[in-house]
Amino acid sequence: MKEQLEQIRQKTLAALNEAANSADLDALRVKVLGKKGELTALLKQMGGLSPEERPVMGQLANSVRAALEAKLEEKNAELQAAAMDLRLKAEAIDVTIPGTPVRTGSKHPMNKALDEVKDIFVGMGFSIVDGPEVELSDYNFTKLNTEEGHPARDRSDTFYLTDDDSVLLRTQTSPMQIRVMEKTKPPIRIIAPGRVYRKDEVDATHSPMFHQIEGLVVDKGVTMTDLKGTLENFAKQLYGEDAVIRFRPHHFPFTEPSCEVDVQCFECHGAGCRTCKGEGWIELLGAGMVHPKVLRGCGIDPEEYSGFAFGIGLERAAMRRFCIPDMRLVYENDMRFLSQF
Ligand code: PHE
Repeated sequence: MKEQLEQIRQKTLAALNEAANSADLDALRVKVLGKKGELTALLKQMGGLSPEERPVMGQLANSVRAALEAKLEEKNAELQAAAMDLRLKAEAIDVTIPGTPVRTGSKHPMNKALDEVKDIFVGMGFSIVDGPEVELSDYNFTKLNTEEGHPARDRSDTFYLTDDDSVLLRTQTSPMQIRVMEKTKPPIRIIAPGRVYRKDEVDATHSPMFHQIEGLVVDKGVTMTDLKGTLENFAKQLYGEDAVIRFRPHHFPFTEPSCEVDVQCFECHGAGCRTCKGEGWIELLGAGMVHPKVLRGCGIDPEEYSGFAFGIGLERAAMRRFCIPDMRLVYENDMRFLSQF
């Protein structure tokens, strides 16, 4: 029996050394120390021993069992440490590998310019309103003192949406003047930015869709001086203190008197070049004193109130602001162009 115990001990220790993982260890534990294990079977034969031999063999068997259990435990810890090592190696992150660059976008130059324009007018006490791009002819033309038969209403100029020409893509943001005056009592001080549409061919300064920023001020005692001061202040804030602008007499059906405001060309500083078509100046906006007929049509008494309005061409303002020579660049989504802003 002593030899058998010794055999089990050596065989098991050898097998233990070979064990590659904890499953092997478990199998070994069951095979030797389990209920039906080899050592257990041997111990069951102790009954056949003489009373003198029994305690000696019992002690020996117990020490073999304890030794094997300790060894199993040790091997198990060893295997687990090795497995953890492997896992750590496999999951290691090399923080020195260059990362995948994240490409951050930037604001479109048009939005940048629009944000600047909004900031400037909000700073002067204006609020910002929004209105429909699909508009009624009534608001786009009639209520703006632009009667049936006016050349601006021509089908070659305007995108009508119905056969009777009563609904259209707005050709200007000026209908917002009417929408605001019909709903709000003076004092009024708003800007209304948005898209407008005209049947224009695409070239360096034209597009069938472009953006305007409408402005409207109505209060008691508003004069042309207020208009000039407001727009001069706006131009200097947007383009810098040394920006040069000029007011030119003009005609709009819904303002009287009316003017256009030009800003000196950023390319040639007034000498005349391709960007300004030899003019030396770039047209920036139309403006004027709100026509008494338009005020009255919106329920505002022109004897009590007066006002001024303006419509800024956002593309032109942005082109002058960022020295962009061709309007097509603004719409073409060329990353080489856009990533400069
Ligand atoms: N709506 C005019 C245009 O598109 C500009 C304008 C706006 C003129 C407000 C006067 C007052 O040309």
